[in-house]
Amino acid sequence: MRKNIVAGNWKMNLTRDEGLLLVEQVLGNLPKQNTQVVFAPNYLSLYKIGKMCNNYENVKVAAQNCSRDSKGAFTGEVSAEMIASCSVDYVIIGHSERRAEFKESNAVLAEKVNRALENNLKVIFCCGESLSQREEMAYLDWIKQQLVESVFHLSAEQIKEIVIAYEPIWAIGTGKTASTEQAQEMHAFIRNLLAEKYGEQVAVNTSILYGGSCNPSNAKGLFAQQDIDGGLIGGASLNAADFLAIINAF
Ligand code: PGA
Repeated sequence: MRKNIVAGNWKMNLTRDEGLLLVEQVLGNLPKQNTQVVFAPNYLSLYKIGKMCNNYENVKVAAQNCSRDSKGAFTGEVSAEMIASCSVDYVIIGHSERRAEFKESNAVLAEKVNRALENNLKVIFCCGESLSQREEMAYLDWIKQQLVESVFHLSAEQIKEIVIAYEPIWAIGTGKTASTEQAQEMHAFIRNLLAEKYGEQVAVNTSILYGGSCNPSNAKGLFAQQDIDGGLIGGASLNAADFLAIINAF
């Protein structure tokens, strides 16, 4: 059966010391539960935080990005192989901030997904629509296109390494969360796409996370939905009490 996952995407926040303190506070207060907890710090803290989490079976670390290329003259880039060599479990691919700021297309993201899987990294693959796409009722087609063009080239075996995060762009960092109905509608739609492409078995076993202003007050309602298996948390993951409250929302 699929896992419940709460992942903290720190983005470009927290120095090394601040990050280590936050991880200590969360690990020291983790409830006994089956929810998998994921920390996604910056590259520089990955190795150290990975070591800190080593003894916790249900705590994993994620990189926030990886290069589309394997190696070579790409100044400033970090390859999936390098990330994997630091005992990292996941890489986040397709976040809307990278799509917008760094012009990452669906085709580029498909290459990144391939690099991650070649190096035995699991992927948290993000998809999401803009407010205008939602208002124009184009949001379902848009999400389908993002998935088809970046992950549906994978085999049924490979897709098992993918966690999907639905993050409506209009909800990210805005304090405006999707309603439980809006989120559930999209999650059920995504699960249905997985069933059509890969069969029921894959669909029921794939974790689909919600992201976008998820916080301690709305997490319970969201996580109670049939097809919502946890969250990708930005702002609220930077504070141990809030992040723990979200972990406890299951
Ligand atoms: P937010 O970010 O929780 O701050 O809205 C979520 C995300 O971008 O993953």
